[in-house]
Amino acid sequence: MKKKFYITTPIYYPSDNLHIGHAYTTIIADCLARYKRMRGYDVHFLTGTDEHGEKIERVAKEKGVAPIEYVDMIVGNIQKLWKELEISNDDFIRTTEPRHTKAVQKIFTKLLENGDIYKGEYRGKYCVHDEAFWTEAQLDEDGNCPDCHRPVEDRVEESYFFEMSKYADQLVDYYNSHPEFIEPESRKNEMLSNFINPGLEDLSVSRTGFKWGIPILEDPAHVIYVWIDALANYITSLGYLSDDETNFEKYWSEDVEILQLVGKEIVRFHTIYWPIMLLALGLRLPDKVYAHGWLIMKDGKMSKSKGNVVKPESLMARYGNDALRHYVLSQVVLGSDGVYTPELFVSCVNTDLANNLGNLLNRTVAMVEKYFDKTVRKNDATTEFDQALFATAETTIKEYESQMDKYHIDKASSAIFDYVSHLNKYIDETQPWVLAKDESKKAELEMVLLNLCLGLRQVGIMLQPFLLDASQTIFKQLKLVAANQEYDSIYNFYDVDVISVAKGEAIFNRLDVEKEVAILQEGM
Ligand code: MSP
Repeated sequence: MKKKFYITTPIYYPSDNLHIGHAYTTIIADCLARYKRMRGYDVHFLTGTDEHGEKIERVAKEKGVAPIEYVDMIVGNIQKLWKELEISNDDFIRTTEPRHTKAVQKIFTKLLENGDIYKGEYRGKYCVHDEAFWTEAQLDEDGNCPDCHRPVEDRVEESYFFEMSKYADQLVDYYNSHPEFIEPESRKNEMLSNFINPGLEDLSVSRTGFKWGIPILEDPAHVIYVWIDALANYITSLGYLSDDETNFEKYWSEDVEILQLVGKEIVRFHTIYWPIMLLALGLRLPDKVYAHGWLIMKDGKMSKSKGNVVKPESLMARYGNDALRHYVLSQVVLGSDGVYTPELFVSCVNTDLANNLGNLLNRTVAMVEKYFDKTVRKNDATTEFDQALFATAETTIKEYESQMDKYHIDKASSAIFDYVSHLNKYIDETQPWVLAKDESKKAELEMVLLNLCLGLRQVGIMLQPFLLDASQTIFKQLKLVAANQEYDSIYNFYDVDVISVAKGEAIFNRLDVEKEVAILQEGM
């Protein structure tokens, strides 16, 4: 039976169009989903939109439209964006869809019936932006929201509560028995010391102050707290508590590797509230919640009000999908913040894509054309530089797999590009243009060029989840048939022993640094 992999992104607020920071999360997930598919897994990749809540209701009111009209428009833009970025998600869940709302109501009923949820009164400090209640002790030193540092409001509301403390021990047991549940580990320590160890407070899980949410069936004056509504998407989209639970049984069973990618500011919701909901429902917990950092600008977080938002659509239109993907997948260490600057964007595209990879392919194909009339065949000749090249090929594949299996995408990308550098070095070492002058070195020359082609073949295979166009360009220019693009063929360097080439477009044209930096600085 195929191994199964279920990967989710957070579902995005359609309060505004998305920026490159959101695209970052989705591109990471896409890269991992593509990698697992390539490794033979049965993959289910979910993304979607988190459409309820007071903030969306307010934004829609400001625009003078009904909330659903507003979100329909933004969600349309989001879906178009993912299509343009060739995101390979298997499902897209909107929390306004009946398949979600009905199941959320059933979940709420179940928790009420279990006695996990009870009715009470809430007094607290509320952050409208994050839709989160805080206790006095949790506020920052200015008395503001500890997450976004905006002012909070005093609120008293009749509310339903989820008795979180009941599950605290079970949650800590899970943390202990699954030391890899939260990555990076520093986030786990934060959860323990800031929230769990001081004693989990009961969570207010309903609101009466506004209407834009899912009503509680048993008490329709209340809508379900937007985070309970939103977190449930990971199982409602699979059909949990619906007439057809096939996907739920398939992708939420014990034998599935479940990875949930989240930004660092929503770790608390995903590593405390969400696992507790699952424990209360008697369901398994995910294998890992991976908290990635933010893509930030030199002057801090990207935001509309600062006017420093970078639109993924514009970057893509000018530089293409591969450039955007390569930038976010290679330049940001998963788990840490990465700074976006136009200089870094241009230089990473030039260095890796144009100079390193692009040059290698151009030079190799051009030499096969020039010296062997487009076709090279295996023979017995060797050079003193071959063994080192084969050793790098082998360690690269091992490193690539081990990093990708740990979801360390940036490190896997470095491993591939280091191998590309070695292949370029191999050209300098073997000096094919010198060999070409000596008829007695013809067999050697042919093997050098074949080795370059076959190294590029391995590079193309490993790059498939990363660079969607460039990997195909490599396959096309080396005229590789489908079987020679299969992942498992990568272990055998000489899986192919004849290569014909077809010269084509450059993988990436070198960018004029000054000109492009100026364009990027103008704003995208
Ligand atoms: N709706 C909630 C998530 C609910 S999941 C059950 C939410 N939405 S969001 O649209 O505000 O953010 C979605 C994701 O985008 C978060 O993981 C967040 O970290 C990520 N990013 C938003 N801005 C970002 C950057 N500048 N950089 C990287 N990721 C960023 O939170």
